[in-house]
Amino acid sequence: MTITEFYLAIKATHIGLVLASGSLFALRGLGVLLGSATAMRAPARRLSYAIDTALLTAAVLLLAILHLNPFTTPWLAAKLVLLVTYIVLGSLALKRARSRPHRALAFCAALLCFAAIYAIARRHDPLGFLAWPPK
Ligand code: HEM
Repeated sequence: MTITEFYLAIKATHIGLVLASGSLFALRGLGVLLGSATAMRAPARRLSYAIDTALLTAAVLLLAILHLNPFTTPWLAAKLVLLVTYIVLGSLALKRARSRPHRALAFCAALLCFAAIYAIARRHDPLGFLAWPPK
């Protein structure tokens, strides 16, 4: 038995965790904008770390199974650059931005970034939803 046999299960797990991660971020971001303290309490933060760690672990397993180098595969490189942007915007939206309008702006930009990563992954194309015709 090799790890390759688990490709489909790991990919499904990666996608499931992607959806869980995006949904939790959207809920926490809305919570922060509405002034809810729960969004930044330890249980929400811990759940978010756990989901994101599992998501990245599944991503690394997929890279290993598919023998892909993210630095030389354009759609994966684009995903990584946008992932870093998403993390920075997410941190601004939840915590670091100084005012509510700035947090709202960072929140919308982070969601757009997330959607762009999703489109890039689905199409295996660094242009993501700008790629035409869609694959
Ligand atoms: C917010 C972050 C991420 C999102 C939204 C995301 C989204 C997705 C989605 C939707 C798929 C399924 C694509 C398909 O249907 O073929 C996928 C697959 C994949 N992702 Fe991610 N992903 C994220 C992070 C990462 C990271 C950081 C890496 C590693 C650099 C990565 C590597 C992969 C690989 C290797 C596949 C499998 C592609 C294939 O089977 O052909 N992902 N991702």
